[in-house]
Amino acid sequence: MPDDFFADISDGKTPPTYRFFNGKEWVVSTSGKITAVHSPIDASIVGHLQVVTTAEIDAVMETAKAAQPAWEAIPLNQRVKIMHLAADWTAHFADYLIALLMREIGKTTDEAKGEIMRTVDLTDYFADEAQSLRGETLDSDNFPGFEKGRIALVERVAYGVVVAISPFNYPVNLSASKIVPALLMGNSVVFKPPTQGAISGLHLTKIFQKAGVPAGVLSCVTGGGGEIGDYLVSHPKADLITFTGSSDTGRAIAVAGGMKPLVFECGGNNPAVVFPDADMSLTVREIIKGGFSYAGQRCTAIKYVLGTSGVLESLLQEVLLQMKTLVHMGDPRSPETKLVGPVISEQAALHIEEVIQEAVGDGATIATGGKRTASYIEPTILTNVKPTMKIVGTEVFGPVISFMSVNSMDEAATIINGSHFGLQASVFTKDEGTGIVFARQLNVGTVQINGSPQRGPDHFPFLGVKRSGLGVQGVRYSLEAMSRLKPIVLNKPA
Ligand code: NAP
Ligand code: G3P
Repeated sequence: MPDDFFADISDGKTPPTYRFFNGKEWVVSTSGKITAVHSPIDASIVGHLQVVTTAEIDAVMETAKAAQPAWEAIPLNQRVKIMHLAADWTAHFADYLIALLMREIGKTTDEAKGEIMRTVDLTDYFADEAQSLRGETLDSDNFPGFEKGRIALVERVAYGVVVAISPFNYPVNLSASKIVPALLMGNSVVFKPPTQGAISGLHLTKIFQKAGVPAGVLSCVTGGGGEIGDYLVSHPKADLITFTGSSDTGRAIAVAGGMKPLVFECGGNNPAVVFPDADMSLTVREIIKGGFSYAGQRCTAIKYVLGTSGVLESLLQEVLLQMKTLVHMGDPRSPETKLVGPVISEQAALHIEEVIQEAVGDGATIATGGKRTASYIEPTILTNVKPTMKIVGTEVFGPVISFMSVNSMDEAATIINGSHFGLQASVFTKDEGTGIVFARQLNVGTVQINGSPQRGPDHFPFLGVKRSGLGVQGVRYSLEAMSRLKPIVLNKPA
């Protein structure tokens, strides 16, 4: 524990029991209930979390509502300074946060370092970008039939209280990607981190508190999404829900949240389409990285590869060959581990194992991998996969890539557009013009040409269509999403 910076967020025992942050102080819930966070590495207890009560959620919401107007009223440049200080504190405690992240969610050293340092850069970039976001004025006589005399002052204002809910696979970065723009635009934030990742989320909350976010403006409540989620998102004092997680949870939140504005990043099930003229060594590297990074637990992970049979067969052989050097499953803390540590829990690993076995039962072949040990799933490649199989129709959040042959690229486009998901797609071809023409056929959020799917760089627009999301994120787009326009029209006498 770095000096006493984080001293008040837990009881300091081993393993610690963490408090939740009610916006003003770190407290133990009156529920008397705690839940354990087990490390996916070895199932050891990382710590315990409070399970908050609905009364505590009411109080947090009340505090957030009351604190928001004064927070929006302070100069933007002061909010910007606080965010830059939060970025500095995150960088200052990077080593401690990296070690915690590795233990709590099983990321490798490089992946955990990447998440923390990316959060530092993202927070700084948000703060700088917020200063260039401005409203506009409009004159009435620009529109046919209207005389001069009406001027619209179009301001950008806060929504009020933003409920921010983040997923386990980026519990720091994808929490900051919600909290920072919401705070910069003058909102209060009630933050609910993922249970597996909440300890990292609580540390991030402490950083914002120490950076100078005023009392009441930011709170962090813990407890299972299935237990407190509905009450939180349906709360009458919640003015906007920003959520990243599975499509099923997103749908549940959309129903419980009613007419509230929603900003969602949901499940992905991303294809890679390989044209006959593709650069094979690049394609192989991108498929391996795209499919197996963080044990395939990325919404942007490559989940299935489409190509005509001849291309697919030679690609498969090369992928299998390169996996021997580029991929190694093991303890994520070990320098020998490459891309594939444990998945987030043994329960998740069991589900992935079941889906693999179901695909085999439906006629798929295991070209490599397929075995499970505790929370560890071997990097797996399936062949002879058909579009109707569950392994293609659902998001398998693990290190599994399916190879599916098609008769034409048009057939590939039809399969992709027939999916319930539409986050990203990768297209590999040496002819970028061909890639662009094909990309325009795909009903997905983003098409990567000659690269694996990814959210970064973080100022690019990032969105999913169909069950993969609602709204657009990415620095400027997130700042806009966390605010609304408010026209004030001056009707001046003729
Ligand atoms: P998840 O199970 O949907 O949980 C996401 C968050 O929602 C967690 O904080 C969870 O809390 C909370 N939650 C669960 N049920 C809820 C409810 N009824 N009401 C309110 N909140 C609720 O997803 P995950 O397993 O953490 O993350 C993996 C999923 O997220 C994958 O589908 C992945 O594709 C998706 N994801 C998408 C993106 C993207 O950018 N599109 C990025 C990252 C991840 P608990 O943890 O306490 O259950
Ligand atoms: O699943 C997390 C999603 O945001 C992907 O991020 O940067 O790994 O593509 P990235």
